[in-house]
Amino acid sequence: MQEISYENSSNDTKAGVLENESLIEQFVQELCQNGAVVLDDRSGFFSDEEWAALETFGLLSGLPYETVDVGDAGEPNKVEVGRLMTDVEQPLVVNESISKKMLKIICAPSRLKFMENLLGISPLSVRRAQINKMHAGSFIGRHVDQDSNPDYEVSIVLQFGRAFDGGEFIIQLPDGSQNVIVPTFRSITITRCDFAHEVRPVLAGTRTSLVYFVSRHAGLNRRYLSEAAVGSSASTMA
Ligand SMILES: [Fe+2]
Repeated sequence: MQEISYENSSNDTKAGVLENESLIEQFVQELCQNGAVVLDDRSGFFSDEEWAALETFGLLSGLPYETVDVGDAGEPNKVEVGRLMTDVEQPLVVNESISKKMLKIICAPSRLKFMENLLGISPLSVRRAQINKMHAGSFIGRHVDQDSNPDYEVSIVLQFGRAFDGGEFIIQLPDGSQNVIVPTFRSITITRCDFAHEVRPVLAGTRTSLVYFVSRHAGLNRRYLSEAAVGSSASTMA
């Protein structure tokens, strides 16, 4: 994967990805060719204060977690999920006392604008957000996010895990090869929702990530409208 410089051509070293539109073309190419764009904590996508707030609200505030064994697409999983926004029939904010504070950060206009520039789609909205906690032995089986909602464009995965082994994020590319992403602390992985992907088993430590999905469609989940019955809402995404 190509090394990304977050500095712009005018030598303004303070410009992060949200202010530097000259980087968008490179990100579009990455997304098309490799199925994902990976930003690190130098990217300025979140400030240190915002990262700290997201980690505090998500991990230390009493957000309830449930164990999930089967994902939306029927893929086997082993993961603990804390829900901020569900998307069974339509987007629904849950655990509001915690999730509203977190959604205010991740849904900030500057971040949605970045996604709109990246995808060339406007307006976009966030629908579905959750925290996935993965201990040793946890994994997420291969699946396609658009099987959960055909209008998902990209997922954004914020990595909170500081030290863990395994847990690689694997994307199946159209040419048969794999993009193997090793998420690091405070990395941001933006992934296409039409490519199959999985999370390999965590071998040691705890891999904790906040995952959310952006869509051009803000109404009812059109997967739900096209199916006679909806699977269990106790599901997860990588
Ligand atoms: Fe996924």
